[in-house]
Amino acid sequence: MDFSPPSVHRGLEHDPQWYRRAVFYEVMVRAFYDADGDGVGDIPGLISKLDYLEWLGIDALWLPPFYSSPLRDGGYDVADFRQVLPEFGTIDDFGELVSQAHARNMRIVMDLPLNHTSVEHAWFVSSRSDPQGPYGDYYVWSDTDKIREQIRVIFTDTEESNWAFDSVRRQFYFHRFFSHQPDLNYHNPKVHDEIHDIARFWLDMGVDGFRLDAVPYLYESDEGSGESEPETHEFLERFRAFIDAEFPGRVLIAEANQWPREVAAYLGTEEKPQCHMAFDFPIMPRIFYALRSQQTASLNAVLKETTEVPSGAAWGVFLRNHDELTLEMVTEEERQALYGWYAYDPRMRVNVGIRRRLAPLLDNSRSELQLAHALLLSLAGSPFLYYGDEIGMGDNIWLEDRDSSRTPMQWTPDRNAGFSSADAGKLFLPVVQSLVYNYQSANVETQLAQQASLLHWVRTMVHVRKNHPVFGVGSMTVVPTDSPSALAFIRDMPASECRPGERPETVLCVYSFSHNPLAVSLTLPEEFRANKVTDVFGGSTFPAPSEQGHITLALPPQSFYWLSLAGVKASVT
Ligand code: NOJ
Repeated sequence: MDFSPPSVHRGLEHDPQWYRRAVFYEVMVRAFYDADGDGVGDIPGLISKLDYLEWLGIDALWLPPFYSSPLRDGGYDVADFRQVLPEFGTIDDFGELVSQAHARNMRIVMDLPLNHTSVEHAWFVSSRSDPQGPYGDYYVWSDTDKIREQIRVIFTDTEESNWAFDSVRRQFYFHRFFSHQPDLNYHNPKVHDEIHDIARFWLDMGVDGFRLDAVPYLYESDEGSGESEPETHEFLERFRAFIDAEFPGRVLIAEANQWPREVAAYLGTEEKPQCHMAFDFPIMPRIFYALRSQQTASLNAVLKETTEVPSGAAWGVFLRNHDELTLEMVTEEERQALYGWYAYDPRMRVNVGIRRRLAPLLDNSRSELQLAHALLLSLAGSPFLYYGDEIGMGDNIWLEDRDSSRTPMQWTPDRNAGFSSADAGKLFLPVVQSLVYNYQSANVETQLAQQASLLHWVRTMVHVRKNHPVFGVGSMTVVPTDSPSALAFIRDMPASECRPGERPETVLCVYSFSHNPLAVSLTLPEEFRANKVTDVFGGSTFPAPSEQGHITLALPPQSFYWLSLAGVKASVT
């Protein structure tokens, strides 16, 4: 496989708002490529695959935790925030990754699990044995577990309470996730100083930002829900001010699995910004709902609700990631329907969600995979792809918890899918060998050899999106249609968003979730009435809208159009 880079690397472009135009790729170091043959992916292995990611069109990597950790929660149980887990490599390897990525104009965003640590972290070891010592107040301790009982349990499959008894300190400690992950005490200002110092340590090494893990849960109170409490937002305002003052151009991304208005709050306001980006949790499950129900009402409603954000802020949109497909942000009725369609085997469920990968969820249907990706790449916000989804990788529901969709990347049809030269039994997780998603057919090399493969299609789409910055920085206006199975919106990039050499652009995106052919009629809002409509891909001219802006489009089952609108009044000014 040859992804030879250009002989001269471009280096990092200066753009303080780079994240608004970026295509992100979530890659677990452990699962991507094993360079030293010990059965575990590592940082040198990831470095050796940067050419592939550059070829794919990726602008930024999101790396889940690679810190020193007992790995009882995929590394989100951090034992030392300043050490790289030895099996993943060294701190020098990480420095090399940053510089090699930057040489390719690719950014590195790392996870910062700032809500909790592992029980093995030195702070906790000290806190439990020395309550009066310097770390005594770093965690949330209580003599009773009968307080804050209103705070919901998140990992419902494994935990019954948010409190665990510590036999050394003989007190209870609070934990929002696993009981081996005690929550840090944000009422203690020393914890803030620690988090700032840790952030500074990595920012000094050149990382381009952090995904702030589990950020709604930083503060809890006796009466509150323990989610999005006001002090959490105040902490974020200060954290953002620190980034802006010392590290402008680096990005903070909120992982806040909350309802639309609450997620938007993590972006803050014009005067008091918080994170630069927030993952759009409410949209994601509604895409899956629309694919099966053939109804877009719920997707439409949530799209209308989330479009207002402070200038410079951006949504992070995604289909899948390393966690379960969470169903927390849908109605009970939608949740039951989603379980019925996508998790008909109880093994497919975990907590309040579904632990499967994209291709198996969509039953490997090419039209559904294309529809879902096209929507992802055109929504307001920056898309986050999950490693392996570009080749339609499968999952393994016989593995525990979310490991089902964290298996080794499938590079070739050879031993261990080309991921590692280790004995197969030594791999950190087995490669997928199921009938449909067997690595011998689903792998990068095979798909490279086939022009019509999903991999080539995804790559083309990523590049088309990048050639039309309107998808990154344009505004979004939902346009009503006459069909309950259709979704339409307009992306519009005004002159004020254009860089030198770019022109204002307006694109109409129309999606049919119907399983049958569909005629869709819509009326373009007055400010977007065009006199010429052309296909973004091939450039062919479509029938012009009527004087009243009326258009009817015929769509094959589960398909879409991206149509350029020329002569739009709003953009001409
Ligand atoms: C959010 C992470 O995405 C998830 O993988 C992890 O289990 C929880 N935080 C708890 O650490």
